[in-house]
Amino acid sequence: MSKFVSIAIDGPAGAGKSTMARACAKELGYLYVDTGAIYRTVGYYMRLMGVGPKDKDGIARLIDEVNIDIRYEDGVQHMILNGTDVTGEIRTPEMSKYASGVSAQKCVRDFLLDMQRAFARKHNVVMDGRDIGTVVLPKAQVKIFLTASPEERAKRRFEELTEKGEKASYEKVLQDMKQRDKQDSERTIAPLKQAADAVLLDTSDDTVKQSVDAILAIVRRKLG
Ligand code: DC
Repeated sequence: MSKFVSIAIDGPAGAGKSTMARACAKELGYLYVDTGAIYRTVGYYMRLMGVGPKDKDGIARLIDEVNIDIRYEDGVQHMILNGTDVTGEIRTPEMSKYASGVSAQKCVRDFLLDMQRAFARKHNVVMDGRDIGTVVLPKAQVKIFLTASPEERAKRRFEELTEKGEKASYEKVLQDMKQRDKQDSERTIAPLKQAADAVLLDTSDDTVKQSVDAILAIVRRKLG
């Protein structure tokens, strides 16, 4: 049994996983690991090299060229791809689609599995993603499946994009989100699904503070 505690937070796009997981990690003094950012970084490299998100052979050919480093600056996770900080570049709607596409490939998931597990071997972590409780950290002491209605999730994502000054349409955000959830849930390897021992938390009607408090209450109950 590891001497470190792992908290796994999974769920569909826009459920607020990053916001909640980051806040909980801060409160608990744990390391926050955003695994979606790692898939986004792989997607970004494939896009840079002109390889499509569903090009199985192309991705398999290039995956060994991907060198990912994760650095923390003031508690913020920075993604370093082959020596370059791409933290900002991976946060676009196009990269969301790319990440979802490449993440369905077995070679990509195999490539990233140990990198994610290594964090939990060395730190207390709050890790968020799609398969953390089911595949990456099946022995996590706390597992939460965070969700909200598609409309509420699209509204949050739309507001986030608008705040960043990006032109977006709510309808398009909703459509892209549903498409991505379908792709992430229906893929063969490590699909998005609630672990049997995860606590389901629907945040549709909650503020960020209420959701964070609810997660912390679950954590305290589980850890005793
Ligand atoms: O959490 P996010 O939106 O940044 O994730 C981007 C994509 O990466 C998501 O659509 C599916 C994939 N992903 C995954 O397959 N497994 C994870 N643990 C995290 C993300």
